[in-house]
Amino acid sequence: MLPAITLHDDRHTPPRGSSFKRLSSVRFENCRLPQNEQRSGLNFQDLMARQGAIDSPPKTPFIMGSECAGDIEQVGEGVENFKVGDRVVALPDHKAWAELVAVPATSVFALPAGMSYLDAAAITMNYTVAYILLFELANLTPGKSLLLHSVGGGVGQAVVQLAKTVKDVTIFGVCSKSKHEALKAAGTIDQLLERGTDYCNEVRKISPEGVDIVLDCLCGEECNKGYALLKPMGKYILYGSSNVVTGETKSFFSAARSWWQVDKVSPIKLFDENKTLSGLNLRHLMYQHGSHAYVRRAVERVFALWNEGKIKPVVDSTWALEDVPEAMQKMHDRKNIGKIVLDPSLEPKPKPATPAKGKAKDKKAANQESQDKKASSVESEDGEKKKEPELTNGTSEDKSDSDSKEKESS
Ligand SMILES: NC(=O)c1ccc[n+]([C@@H]2O[C@H](COP(=O)([O-])OP(=O)(O)OC[C@H]3O[C@@H](n4cnc5c(N)ncnc54)[C@H](OP(=O)(O)O)[C@@H]3O)[C@@H](O)[C@H]2O)c1
Repeated sequence: MLPAITLHDDRHTPPRGSSFKRLSSVRFENCRLPQNEQRSGLNFQDLMARQGAIDSPPKTPFIMGSECAGDIEQVGEGVENFKVGDRVVALPDHKAWAELVAVPATSVFALPAGMSYLDAAAITMNYTVAYILLFELANLTPGKSLLLHSVGGGVGQAVVQLAKTVKDVTIFGVCSKSKHEALKAAGTIDQLLERGTDYCNEVRKISPEGVDIVLDCLCGEECNKGYALLKPMGKYILYGSSNVVTGETKSFFSAARSWWQVDKVSPIKLFDENKTLSGLNLRHLMYQHGSHAYVRRAVERVFALWNEGKIKPVVDSTWALEDVPEAMQKMHDRKNIGKIVLDPSLEPKPKPATPAKGKAKDKKAANQESQDKKASSVESEDGEKKKEPELTNGTSEDKSDSDSKEKESS
């Protein structure tokens, strides 16, 4: 089997080094590392896929990932626009985090000369989404104002850069407080607002009439707040449902609440209020609606902007493939600023040593014996057996370690 990052339905034995508990687990499937220079993007969608929180998730085990860049090793019959050795980026429907990735040619894009695989993996998904949001759906023009959630993330940073290619655009960016200092230093966001606060009120203090564009990747109660913030002729666009992710496992309650909180808006209300609602789901656009030509045009526009030097991806960090649980944990913990990229040429960070198998067994047996003794004494004193405390997967050490060990991208 070739090396790949595979999601298993492994509820009872979480992988070592991951604090995702009772969750389908991510494993590196082979000890041989890919030899070539490929890179893969880690997207929020991968967190959702890991929880089974996307629609029609593949059956486990399946290879994860939806974005990778590398060179072509083989072309299928009838494929004429690509040849072996071409440098490309691909947006497959899963199965991207592997040494070899089979992708329909419609989801493969030739890289412009000089674009590294790192840049390709950091740009393609995020900037294509951002481009369609701003220039196809929102019709961003000079002087407009826009509100954006998760402004420090991969798509968020792409939106900021693309929006700033238009004159006099005002950006209200909402994100976790911990990112404000770094984002303020970058100086590209006009007004930074804190996630979880009454950000609508803050926007109205600065712009009493509201904003022209709301880009919402959270869903749930943010939908109604975003719609209410629109000026006449304003556009609200839903492009994600991050609010569905509340813990480390899929929550049916969060999904139901998120759906329930959204007001069902009638076209008559839109007509009366001069507002527009739209949505974007790139995965559906490519894999359900077959709009490959549309997406290709957007990718080509993005690559042209890169060629012109108008965009430059913000890379949060790069990680070895084996460290994908820690990389995902960082995103889950809301700590990334920009894109997280997987780099198979990196060495995995050292994991805490585990006792040798035989010794571990002996220790386990000894522990069991002493627990049995304790349990029987408790039973005889109380007249009933006390429940053992639940064991948790202790990884706080790993987590703090992961931040210091990751290789920061230059
Ligand atoms: N429509 C599409 O085709 C499409 C394509 C790509 C991405 N997206 C959507 O765009 C959004 C951003 O995607 P991305 O890949 O660039 O990821 P990202 O923004 O880099 O994701 C990580 C950030 O999301 C924020 N976040 C919001 N809710 C969260 C939650 N429940 N748990 C953890 N973090 C949460 C956190 O930032 P703060 O705490 O600072 O908010 C976190 O740092 C996602 O909603 C994603 O689904 C949509």
